[in-house]
Amino acid sequence: MAVTIKSEREIELMREAGRILAITHEELGKAIKPGMSTLDIDRLGEEIIRSYGCIPSFLNYQGYPASICVSVNDEVVHGIPTKDHIIDEGDIVSLDAGVIYKGYHSDAARTHAVGEISKEASKLIEVTKESFFEGLKYAKEGNHLFDISRAIQKYVEANGFSVVRDLVGHGIGSNLHEAPEIPNFAGRRKGMKLKAGMTLAIEPMVNAGHYDVCWLDDDWTVVTADGSLSAHYENTVLITEDGYEILSLTK
Ligand code: MF3
Ligand code: CO
Repeated sequence: MAVTIKSEREIELMREAGRILAITHEELGKAIKPGMSTLDIDRLGEEIIRSYGCIPSFLNYQGYPASICVSVNDEVVHGIPTKDHIIDEGDIVSLDAGVIYKGYHSDAARTHAVGEISKEASKLIEVTKESFFEGLKYAKEGNHLFDISRAIQKYVEANGFSVVRDLVGHGIGSNLHEAPEIPNFAGRRKGMKLKAGMTLAIEPMVNAGHYDVCWLDDDWTVVTADGSLSAHYENTVLITEDGYEILSLTK
């Protein structure tokens, strides 16, 4: 499928989807506490999304059974919420969520510290988020897609961590996943030229150890192969003539 350039009307709908998603993440971030189950987080997230008249993008997407992906510690992404998985003090919890507003998606992820966490874990969360903003420095019409990817990888590796290779970011719009694929690593290839009106979900997934990942038997949950911690940070971004607009942040 070709990359789509969004109209002003489509962008307006994606802004609203993004605004509601940003609020959802803020509320979930405030709510997350030791003793909650990962299913409690999913239920609350779905409730918030529906309270704004939106639909959770992930629910039933290719059979995914929940609204929020909740991935704890060595889980990288796509953790399935359950009532038996209880969040503990010292955990790091990645929440990935998507909303559909009038047919348009927004997709974003945050990693939260639960109570006191190790120094390495907080550095991992910080570096993952910062790597997104390092990549964004290259988000602008006329630059190449992999300029973003390369900047993310460079920042992560300079800080002693690794970027997951088996999963990538993506275009987004009236579909959750659209072209192009957006790797968080780059060789020498440049990728496509960025154009104003492209909407991209840029999502570094960063492991404290090796970048290899495995899939659990639930066919969804992705974990680090070496058992090391992993963090995720994602926003839906609009490319503009002179830079970008982050659609899934309120501030
Ligand atoms: N943000 C995730 C991604 O881009 C979406 C999760 S897919 C789902 O891959 F199936 F879990 F919904
Ligand atoms: Co995504």
